[in-house]
Amino acid sequence: MTTDRLTDADRSFLFVLGSSRPDGNTEILARAAAEQLPAGIPQRWVDLAKDPLPDFQDGRHEDGTWPVGEREEELRRLTLEATDIVIASPLYWYTVSANTKRYLDYWSGWLGVPGLDFKKRMAGRTLWGVTAMSEEDEVRADGLITALNHSAAYLGMRFGGVLLGNGSRPGQVRNDERAITRAKTFFEREAPLARFPGEEETGER
Ligand SMILES: Cc1cc2nc3c(=O)[nH]c(=O)nc-3n(C[C@H](O)[C@H](O)[C@H](O)COP(=O)(O)O)c2cc1C
Repeated sequence: MTTDRLTDADRSFLFVLGSSRPDGNTEILARAAAEQLPAGIPQRWVDLAKDPLPDFQDGRHEDGTWPVGEREEELRRLTLEATDIVIASPLYWYTVSANTKRYLDYWSGWLGVPGLDFKKRMAGRTLWGVTAMSEEDEVRADGLITALNHSAAYLGMRFGGVLLGNGSRPGQVRNDERAITRAKTFFEREAPLARFPGEEETGER
C-alpha cells in the first residue's frame, strides 16, 4: 500500500490517544488537526487508557501461540484497516507515554503472527505524531520524534512528522497559537518514506 497514490476516498485515519488523562492537550491538538481533514476521509479514535492493554509479553521465540485478548485483536484490526496512523502521545520523559509504548510493543508481536504479514501490510502506510509538552524548547521532543521516525523506517512506512504543542494543564495548548496554526495544515504535509540516518534515498522499497 502506498498512501501517495491513494485518493481521499481510499484513505482512513486512526488516531491513537496515549495520554493518561482524558481531554488532555494532546487530544485537543490532534482534534484541531483532524478537523481540517476532508469530510470524506473516515476517522477512528481509540483511547489507549480505556480498557488498557496488559503489558506486552514477548512470546516471539516460543513455540505455539499465545492468547490474544479482545482489546489486542481490536487494536490490531483498527491498525491494519487504517492507511494513516496518528500517534497522539503527550511527551513523557522525553519520549512517548507508557500506554503508547505498550501499543507499539504489540506491533512487535504482530510482526511474528504467522500469515498476518504485518510488516508487508504496514509498508507504504503513513505514520504521524501529535504531542503536547510542558517545556517550551521543542528540541526536547527529539527523542519522541526519533522513536516514531525510526519505527516508521523499520516498517517501510511514510512519516509525516510530529505536530508539537505547548501546555501543562489540560486546555493550555489552545493558548499556543503557533501550534494551533500548524494544526490547520499539518495533514497536508508531504509524508516521505521514513529513513534511518545515513540511509540513502533509494525511492520505493
Ligand atoms: C509522567 C509525565 C512525564 C512528563 N514528562 C515531560 C517531559 O519530559 N517534557 C515535557 O515538556 N513535559 C513533560 N510532561 C508534561 C506533559 O507533557 C504535559 O503536561 C502535556 O500537556 C500532557 O499532555 P496531555 O494533556 O495530553 O496529557 C510530563 C508529564 C507527565 C505526567
